[in-house]
Amino acid sequence: MENLNFYNLKEDTVLEDKEIIENLESSSQKKINSKHLYDEIGSKLFEKITNLDDYYPTRSELEILEKKNVFKKNLPESASVIEFGSGSYKKVKKLLEALNNPKEYIPIDISYEFLKTNAKAFAKKFPKINVKAVCADFNQIQSLKKIVQHKSKNLGFFPGSTIGNFVPDEAQKLLKKFAKILGKDNYLVIGVDIRKDKKLMEKAYNDSQGVTAEFNKNILKGINKKTGAKFKTEYFEHFAYFNDDEKRIEMHLISKKNQIVNISNKKIRFDKGETIHTENSYKYSIEEFKKLSISSGYKVIDFVTDKNKYFGVFFLKVIQT
Ligand code: SAH
Ligand code: AVI
Repeated sequence: MENLNFYNLKEDTVLEDKEIIENLESSSQKKINSKHLYDEIGSKLFEKITNLDDYYPTRSELEILEKKNVFKKNLPESASVIEFGSGSYKKVKKLLEALNNPKEYIPIDISYEFLKTNAKAFAKKFPKINVKAVCADFNQIQSLKKIVQHKSKNLGFFPGSTIGNFVPDEAQKLLKKFAKILGKDNYLVIGVDIRKDKKLMEKAYNDSQGVTAEFNKNILKGINKKTGAKFKTEYFEHFAYFNDDEKRIEMHLISKKNQIVNISNKKIRFDKGETIHTENSYKYSIEEFKKLSISSGYKVIDFVTDKNKYFGVFFLKVIQT
């Protein structure tokens, strides 16, 4: 396809394996970084989650993206749109429809096959838009800076409340990196899940069809493939709850029995009931997120929510890089 270029910038996997093992060896709380949820199967399972009745965030954000006038009014024309953690293109499609004459689309995602399939489909659907699909960790600022240019206005798009998957300190660091990639006086449109009734939030991560449970357990299959570990998913159970003190949903995998799992040349011991912490999903108040944005070098130029006030889309302008 003439309007599509693909860049694979995935980093050294040996270092990644070392980090995975260290995090599993921890005697206090075993953990796996949530980015490992997204292999080919994980991305498909996440897509399935976004269509569930129990998972309110996607439907709420899509409702906001229908408010095309707000997007048109606040955002530049002929923009280069850079999407961090792009997944499927169902959200950016709506954003692009609202914008004046978008020139370029740069989806950045760690999930190789899913990115490739979606970038191809996107390029076919939007032949006039130049697509640069980048398989990378969006923390890889130096490599990304070489791909994102500053010839036209840059518009960063970070939907889905993926920012909530980072602890606030890391979220601030990430937003600062995005500001550097986008450049001063450019824009970031970011979707954030707003804190609400605990039951509603917990239901979204314990859906009645068990898709989130499957998504969570699939992380172990990915770790097996990546590192040669010997996790058996049937010996673990999905668990998600809202941690009131930390203001976040936590996903865990609970060991159903005492067991030893081989990984590389190490033996990892699990007691019955012990957990692996696989994901955080922070839920912010509107004021908390505004503060985080300002402290990360942005000015908040607008904010939109859905009819239930479940989800927020913040329009930010880069002030400081
Ligand atoms: N933007 C989509 C997908 C959100 S799911 C939506 O709103 O529905 C989070 C996405 O971020 C996944 O596609 C996942 O592969 C990607 N992702 C997660 N951690 C990442 C990282 N560190 N670097 C790059 N992509 C990442
Ligand atoms: C991508 N991310 C913002 C989702 C979330 O809600 O934290 C991932 C997810 N985890 C469980 N369900 C969905």
